[in-house]
Amino acid sequence: MKFVFGNWKMYLDFDESLVLANQLATESYNSNKVEVAVFPNYLAITDVEMSLRDTSIRIGAQNCAWVPKGAYTGAISAEMLRSANCDYVLVGHSERRYVFGETDSDVRKKLEAVLDVGLTPVLCVGETKKDREEGKTEYRLKKQLMKALDGINLYSNGLIIAYEPVWAISNAGVGEPCDPEDANEAHELIDLEIKQYLDIDVPLLYGGSVTANNVLSYLAHDSVDGVLVGSAARKIETFSNLIRTVESM
Ligand code: 13P
Repeated sequence: MKFVFGNWKMYLDFDESLVLANQLATESYNSNKVEVAVFPNYLAITDVEMSLRDTSIRIGAQNCAWVPKGAYTGAISAEMLRSANCDYVLVGHSERRYVFGETDSDVRKKLEAVLDVGLTPVLCVGETKKDREEGKTEYRLKKQLMKALDGINLYSNGLIIAYEPVWAISNAGVGEPCDPEDANEAHELIDLEIKQYLDIDVPLLYGGSVTANNVLSYLAHDSVDGVLVGSAARKIETFSNLIRTVESM
């Protein structure tokens, strides 16, 4: 079974999210072959969830606060996401880290908040272009993983990790995909590294300019259990085509 997770980022407004959810609801994917989840914006989450309730498609959130409730203007807690029937929460997406300034310690607190309410975090890690140019890819991945996972209690929620090299993430479809061999190398490093902290199997997803055309080149590697897709998840044609491609493996 492979994972295809669609992160709709801030690409789709409420109406567009619902249109896409309704289109997805008319498709039928083989959940033995592919686990599909979508990550709408907060406003659309409950309506998208209702639209997809009778399908095998799961719902995730793109972010959450690290406290359950209180005087935190503008924030949405993991508990609120749980009560909206989410299964997953992205934690530490590079746009949260590098556009909104989230630190490794913020990421750790959010990870714990998600685990505390019984949801499954999708922890995102990845090096920037500068890290890569300075030969610091390994350093960055190890540091992000150590800060997130050292001493963590996953309960029985499980964890998914997404390797998203920041430089490979597209802007509205224009991006520079990572060489599948390089993605495999990073996944093998992550796999080894997390064994220091965890004794369960953690699915590893690749993210960064994934399309129906290149998805199989990533999934051809055993170290890649699925993909986290941005731009290509915005439209029914490209997203469904991608899911069908994975399903046909
Ligand atoms: P793209 O597929 O648009 O490169 O986005 C990847 C991503 O950031 C998914 O979380």
